[in-house]
Amino acid sequence: FNDLQREKYRPQFHFTPPAKWMNDPNGMVFFEGEYHLFYQHHPDGTTWGPMHWGHAISKDLTHWEHCPIALKPDEHGEIFSGSAVVDWEDTSGFFGGKPGLVAIFTHADHYPDSERPRQRQSIAYSLDKGRTWITYEGNPVLSEEAITDFRDPKVFWHVPKQQWVMVLATGDRVLFYTSSNLKQWNVESEFGAAEGSHDGVWECPDIIELPVDGGMEGSKWVLIVSIGDNPQCPEGSRTQYFVGDFDGSSFTNDASPETILWLDHGRDNYAGVTWSDAQRADQGKLFIGWMSNWKYANLIPTASWRSAMTLPRVLFLKKVPDGIRLVQEPLAELQQLRLGAKHWEETTIVPGQNLLSDAQGDIYEIECEIDPGDASEVGFKLRKSEREETVVGYNVFDRKLFIDRSNSGEKHFHEAFACKHDVQLELHNGRLKLHIFVDQSSVEVFANDGEIAVTDQIFPDPTSTGMELYVKDGEAKLVSLKLYPLQSIYSY
Ligand code: FRU
Repeated sequence: FNDLQREKYRPQFHFTPPAKWMNDPNGMVFFEGEYHLFYQHHPDGTTWGPMHWGHAISKDLTHWEHCPIALKPDEHGEIFSGSAVVDWEDTSGFFGGKPGLVAIFTHADHYPDSERPRQRQSIAYSLDKGRTWITYEGNPVLSEEAITDFRDPKVFWHVPKQQWVMVLATGDRVLFYTSSNLKQWNVESEFGAAEGSHDGVWECPDIIELPVDGGMEGSKWVLIVSIGDNPQCPEGSRTQYFVGDFDGSSFTNDASPETILWLDHGRDNYAGVTWSDAQRADQGKLFIGWMSNWKYANLIPTASWRSAMTLPRVLFLKKVPDGIRLVQEPLAELQQLRLGAKHWEETTIVPGQNLLSDAQGDIYEIECEIDPGDASEVGFKLRKSEREETVVGYNVFDRKLFIDRSNSGEKHFHEAFACKHDVQLELHNGRLKLHIFVDQSSVEVFANDGEIAVTDQIFPDPTSTGMELYVKDGEAKLVSLKLYPLQSIYSY
């Protein structure tokens, strides 16, 4: 590779392909001490093209070893998104009675002598802990001529019913299938034609069970559904979720059909799903998303590669006054990248003064707690210079958290990129808590212990390293602020 530490805009602690195009994360699975991450990859170009599965392996979800391409187009078509599982009981018969990895993905081509896209599900297995993959000779294992959008299988083992469950995106809804061996699939039910957002085509579903409030309130099922870009919607492609119940065959939504819950309130977290078989002591589920947006993904101003993943996050469910909601925390393993800390406490923030005037940084993490006092707005200006800045702020009267990237750096590659967007956020005991990660081309905000996540790409000049803690129309109280410069994952 060229020098990944110096390339303009190259993220220094987010996953990126060493070269060329990447979109959705695929096939995430934990097996024998290794986290696998596959991804939609076009190895011959920096825009979307014939899809392969790129591959990387990590022991800590932070440092990655890049592996050869895992799956490439074959006689059944290109390799679209999908998942991977550990087949612990060798239900597939691929592994001679031992556990092994099976990938379940979409083969995409066209109907013979036709322009009409054909999408069918196929499987592949690995006999060497994911290093190489053998496509099953009986592929495809699931087709349905009547449905054109028919893709992105996410599979898991349903313990109570002792069978595999697949959730599949089919245009304006998801379908659930079950199987005993990953080779024969039976349709069980459908969900969603009249629920949630239909601003775009439904893609990349996932379904997970999570304890509510750490298990004090039992557990619930979360159905995650990404929705594609719609030229009419400034938000572009984004991800929604539903909270409800799943009995092994069908999903029921707790909320009214018109309720829409967004997983992330930024513009750049799409097609995210969770890791298979990654059991955690905290019972959360590991999630990663594609940190881009179909509205402009093919145009972002990077040279040798395009796109990054979000930080890995851990998903939990929390009871709030309106119902049960997803909360997300950045992965604790990321703390190994901290290079010391600067710490401020119990300070008054005054308009016109900047507590961070001496601080500089291009990759860093901020943790802070602020009592906005009688200020109208309080927040941070990040990756700042005389020419540009990215603002992460809180509007106290409207009770809205916002990111303003309208002057964050390069922005003319697409008219929808420069923008300010916001989300409702209530203070907790009069305080605002922000956990912010800034990389060479992104900002991620986790507010009030992960109640709200906001993920945005930005393309500031590498020399824009200033920062400011600002307040408007009054004084605010800084309860505490920690600034951690971060180490690049490429420096050992
Ligand atoms: C989502 C998606 C998937 C599809 C893949 C193709 O971003 O459109 O539905 O499988 O990308 O690359």
